[in-house]
Amino acid sequence: MDELIDKGVRRLEWARAHMGVLRAIRERLVEDRTLKGVKVAMALHVEAKTGILALTLAEAGADVRLASCNPLSTDDSVSVALRKHYGLDTYAKKGESNEEYYANLNAVLDIRPDYVIDDGADLITILHTNRRDLLGNVKGGNEETTTGVVRLRAMAAEGKLEFPVISVNDAHMKFMFDNRYGTGQSTFDGFMNATNLLIAGKRMVVAGYGWCGRGIAMRAKGMGANVIVTEIDPVRAIEAKMDGFEVMPMLDAARIADIIITASGNKDIVRREHLEVLKDGCVLGNSGHFDNEISKTALEALSGPPLRVRESVDQYTFRDGRHAYLIAEGRLMNLAAGQGHPVEIMDMSFAIQALSLEHLVRNHATLQPKVYNVPEELDQIVARTKLEVMGVRIDELTAEQRKYLQGWQEGT
Ligand code: ADE
Repeated sequence: MDELIDKGVRRLEWARAHMGVLRAIRERLVEDRTLKGVKVAMALHVEAKTGILALTLAEAGADVRLASCNPLSTDDSVSVALRKHYGLDTYAKKGESNEEYYANLNAVLDIRPDYVIDDGADLITILHTNRRDLLGNVKGGNEETTTGVVRLRAMAAEGKLEFPVISVNDAHMKFMFDNRYGTGQSTFDGFMNATNLLIAGKRMVVAGYGWCGRGIAMRAKGMGANVIVTEIDPVRAIEAKMDGFEVMPMLDAARIADIIITASGNKDIVRREHLEVLKDGCVLGNSGHFDNEISKTALEALSGPPLRVRESVDQYTFRDGRHAYLIAEGRLMNLAAGQGHPVEIMDMSFAIQALSLEHLVRNHATLQPKVYNVPEELDQIVARTKLEVMGVRIDELTAEQRKYLQGWQEGT
């Protein structure tokens, strides 16, 4: 156990040392005590960078409880170190059962939170269903990811959302970097860790050309894959085509794919009809939030129970003899088989989280129960702090240029 705690502490301190944006925010939050005594329930992927966010809030005076937002994404060394070394209330274990997963979410809610920080909207959904008794106390929440924001916007559209939620995902300093470069890199961390297979020369299908899909396709191309994109949105499909990728329906792509990675945020992207024509030996992996993008029901219907051939790879043998390989049970492979997004990326995303929480604490009384975008000023603070951390200077508008941009009479 001591060894596990040590490992977790080292991972956490490594992350802390490379999270300069969050450090600058932490120093200010600790000084001005805005978060003092505020009760925060968090459901995020429990790994080192998340630990530093939770410790940041705690060091700023908040009372924090942390559970995992996914049963397979916890780094146990970090979870244990947070609890035993740093004294933070953590409820997460890699490979927890469905019952344990929901018990842990409920345990963090038992703090009777003033604020919630969610990734995927399970915590907020529980508050609006089984734990409605706690709703009266909740003043606001943050949501980290695209999938969660889609769910919350649907709730708000039905008039069911009962407190303001900030869509952290929609900050420029989040989606442009976390979704694109973060997922772009961590998907391959997961892939390589799980399979130890080559990317170069393979036909890799990327399902979905949102910010995550763009990042995955870009990095796959850089590693020498022949990339095929599948899309349902005609504009994104054209973008993928003009970015130099082949575009085709999944039914055509599945016949020739060596690797298929889903990143669509929707369900049944790879389903029975695709598996029936799947190329023998194809490796399937998902980088979307939920494990419903690749149909495990269809895989099992065609083949029976899988054989675990590597720590994070299951082999399905179809009745006609073809094999398919599924990474990390179809759960988001960048965390379930890898270490999540790079530290410097989560530094920016979690800086937005911390500032959005502070914004809620300062302004909740004037906010409505709906989904808000992150205020523009917060994006600017994080961008400027990140530039400082990177040692990059940029130009400033001259007084004349500022005037020019505000006027309309002068054309040239
Ligand atoms: N690490 C912590 N949260 C993460 C997320 N949402 N995606 C990838 N890596 C993470």
